[in-house]
Amino acid sequence: MELFAGMLAFLLALRVQGVNGQSVQMDPSKSGFVGDQVELRCIFVNSNPPVKISQVTWQKLLNGTKQNVAIANPALGVSVLPPFKERVGFKQAAVRYRPPSLEDTTIVFSNLQLSDEAAYICEYTTFPAGNRENMVNLTVFARPMTRMTLTSPTIVARAPKRKTTVATCISANGKPPSVIKWDTRLKGEASLQEYRNPNGTVTVRSNYVVIPSRETHKQKLTCIVMYRSERITESVVLNVQYEPEVKIEGFDGNWYLNRQNVQLTCRADANPPVTIYQWKLLNGSLPTNVEIKNNTLFFKGPVTYDLAGTYVCDATNSIGTRTGIVDVNITDLPINPTPENRNGSLEQPSTSAIIGGAVGGGLLLLLAAILLFMYMRRRQRTFKGDYSTKKHVFGNGYSKAGGLPAHPPIPKVLHYPDDSDDEKKPDQIGNTGGFEVSERNFDAESEDLKRPYFTVEEGESRDYEERTLAFQYDPQPEIADDMISQTDGSVISKKEWYV
Ligand SMILES: *[C@@H]1O[C@H](CO)[C@@H](O)[C@H](O)[C@H]1NC(C)=O
Ligand SMILES: *[C@@H]1O[C@H](CO)[C@@H](O)[C@H](O)[C@H]1NC(C)=O
Ligand SMILES: *[C@@H]1O[C@H](CO)[C@@H](O)[C@H](O)[C@H]1NC(C)=O
Ligand SMILES: *[C@@H]1O[C@H](CO)[C@@H](O)[C@H](O)[C@H]1NC(C)=O
Ligand SMILES: *[C@@H]1O[C@H](CO)[C@@H](O)[C@H](O)[C@H]1NC(C)=O
Ligand SMILES: *[C@@H]1O[C@H](CO)[C@@H](O)[C@H](O)[C@H]1NC(C)=O
Ligand SMILES: *[C@@H]1O[C@H](CO)[C@@H](O)[C@H](O)[C@H]1NC(C)=O
Repeated sequence: MELFAGMLAFLLALRVQGVNGQSVQMDPSKSGFVGDQVELRCIFVNSNPPVKISQVTWQKLLNGTKQNVAIANPALGVSVLPPFKERVGFKQAAVRYRPPSLEDTTIVFSNLQLSDEAAYICEYTTFPAGNRENMVNLTVFARPMTRMTLTSPTIVARAPKRKTTVATCISANGKPPSVIKWDTRLKGEASLQEYRNPNGTVTVRSNYVVIPSRETHKQKLTCIVMYRSERITESVVLNVQYEPEVKIEGFDGNWYLNRQNVQLTCRADANPPVTIYQWKLLNGSLPTNVEIKNNTLFFKGPVTYDLAGTYVCDATNSIGTRTGIVDVNITDLPINPTPENRNGSLEQPSTSAIIGGAVGGGLLLLLAAILLFMYMRRRQRTFKGDYSTKKHVFGNGYSKAGGLPAHPPIPKVLHYPDDSDDEKKPDQIGNTGGFEVSERNFDAESEDLKRPYFTVEEGESRDYEERTLAFQYDPQPEIADDMISQTDGSVISKKEWYV
């Protein structure tokens, strides 16, 4: 750019010289910031024989109007006119000498003002050649004040949802005007206003507008102001307050009689955090054996029909109160999973599952057991099991949610001890992990439940507890004939099993 400007000046000078033999050399353009000091160069290139300089006049040209700035006269001396008197002077002291040297009449502007922006003419009056002049354009820049402000330190998300200006970015009194952009993941809109000041500067202002919500909380918002080649960024992180979003965890659809240690937990997402949790039972009062700790209802002792009802949790923060609801009903027997929901969640147990589990479960299991037994008999000579290698691992992931017991075990393999006289007598029941009730107790309590059970080696109950989250219902892969699949996904050799 400067090279180009220099070349232009040279060409201009050449042109002037070419015609007349004398030239006035100036920069074609010059710029500075408000408050800066700038030099406007003016060099007279004389010829041979030299002409006589009778006066040098600097003029400001604005809107087609010329205004004298400074004059240097070999006989009368130097004169700088108001309003430039304070801020303009000739650079070379030789201009003031008697006799002066007027070849270099460069002037210096100090404390540049916006109003100094204009074209400046440097005119040489000579004898006998007449006038020679050239011109420079002076541009004055004003650096803007840039700032970003949050509309308020915290924004409250309230219903009805409405658009809210969350941040404002201002680049004030800049010349040339800034460009404002936003960088954010927030879904919102930017508005833009430009205001032109009388002194030629421009104030650019942009508002960022979003609908405040839970999703906008903690989002980062960056304003990018581009002024000439500069890039200024400022960021804020939104703090959006919203009322609690509530759900009740802990009811897995499988609260059966005598189940132990059930609980309901009121989970709330809120900003600021929830200060009050209130539990209610619709159309009734909370059972007496319930203990409330923070946001959790602990039901002490075994499950009874009295626990059934609609539980309501009101969670309150400073923004508002929202309610979570869960319908708890009690079954008299555990619900077994059906193939459709074997993969874990029992959130919506199908009717068939409930009926199958509660009523027909026992019969179905018995049937399955007999079929399996017969099948085994056909495939092998004897079945002398050492069941210590058997592992039955059950679980559905509910224990993740607040350490609740998983739904009851799934009868995978039925087992009647060879030496048992009473084929209908149940063996032990596989318990569920995280459920801190000993299997023996459970057995004792469910002694009256005349249904077949299935085995878990007692010595493995610890091991078993650790595995409850890992149970897989996936169909067994094809395995070699002499391998027996285990419910934990592994296989063992028949030899090992049947020895
Ligand atoms: C100086 O400015 C005037 C008007 O603003 C323009 O016409 C002219 O071309 C400019 N000269 C140079 C050398 O940039
Ligand atoms: C220059 O002219 C424009 C209109 O042509 C006018 O608005 C402006 O005020 C003038 N500036 C000066 C310094 O006279
Ligand atoms: C230009 O005008 C604005 C508004 O009147 C003022 O705030 C600002 O300081 C001015 N800028 C300069 C460089 O004088
Ligand atoms: C609960 O009681 C209210 C009136 O107090 C009644 O309108 C509502 O039907 C009742 N709900 C149930 C499930 O009994
Ligand atoms: C529950 O409340 C007790 C005090 O009552 C407190 O020490 C504990 O941190 C709270 N737990 C949770 C998860 O809020
Ligand atoms: C439990 O309640 C749900 C809805 O509240 C209902 O669909 C389901 O049939 C009930 N189950 C029993 C066993 O009553
Ligand atoms: C069970 O879960 C696994 C992975 O968690 C998934 O690939 C598979 O499709 C699920 N099966 C059914 C029947 O939902």
